[in-house]
Amino acid sequence: TYVYLNGDWIAPEHAKVSVFDRGFLFADGIYEVVPVYQGRPFLAEHHLARLDRSLAALAIPNHGDPFWYGLIEQLLARNAISDGLIYFQVTRGAETQRSHLPLGTLTPTVFASVSPLAVHWGVPTPAKVTLCEDIRWLRCDIKSISLLGNIMLKQHAQAQGAMEPLLFRGDHITEGASSNYFAVKDGALYTAPTDHLILPGITRMWVIELARQLGLPVYEQPFRVSELTQLDELFLTSSSREVQPIGQIDDIMIGQGQCGKITEQLVQAFHESKR
Ligand code: PDD
Repeated sequence: TYVYLNGDWIAPEHAKVSVFDRGFLFADGIYEVVPVYQGRPFLAEHHLARLDRSLAALAIPNHGDPFWYGLIEQLLARNAISDGLIYFQVTRGAETQRSHLPLGTLTPTVFASVSPLAVHWGVPTPAKVTLCEDIRWLRCDIKSISLLGNIMLKQHAQAQGAMEPLLFRGDHITEGASSNYFAVKDGALYTAPTDHLILPGITRMWVIELARQLGLPVYEQPFRVSELTQLDELFLTSSSREVQPIGQIDDIMIGQGQCGKITEQLVQAFHESKR
């Protein structure tokens, strides 16, 4: 396999960055994950638009869409991957000493790789989530490589035997540590709005589109912690997990813990849209 680093195509073990890279010292950078199905990138234009917004928020220059599309093409040509995930990372660059504010104009460090992913075509087994207070910062809309809060929350969830933490601020459910959520109640879908408290997931956006095509009402309103015992169905969305049914929140079973009807409809619609 070959990875891309600052203009070179090299074996992963030869890909090295400076210890003065601001990604290493400060997590001063952003990333993006683009799914690939049957050798084709999925919803790439939306991922590249989000990459552009993340870079703009940090005032790191963007190489531009043609550059990224070229990288996608090269990654897929140089790595024999049919289904997988492309990873892009851009940091502000490396300098000669550690300084919170950059000392001069830097050349961003650009890294890209692709890894295989076993794409499932059936309905995934419902998983468990655990409710956790969202301890992250207030710019969760930026796809920052600073993921310490997310990792601590995921470690906690793992210790509880849960696939993912379900995060809340006050009475509002925000998202998962690497996923968005949809709650189903009385035939309608609810998900948190795309403000600074969540990452605007591309899978989330696509599921909203699919739900509207199916005639299902979608409300971009946060589901409330106090309403959690009343929901009919719950699922998570992300580029790696697509539509993941949830059967249990801590000790609360959702229905009988099985995949709900509307969730199943959306799992199927999502599979169809990948072809
Ligand atoms: N995670 N919310 C958070 C905090 C995320 O990290 C992610 C994605 C999502 C879902 O976004 P999308 O549908 O665009 O994948 C929501 C990626 C996959 C990751 O960290 O690897």
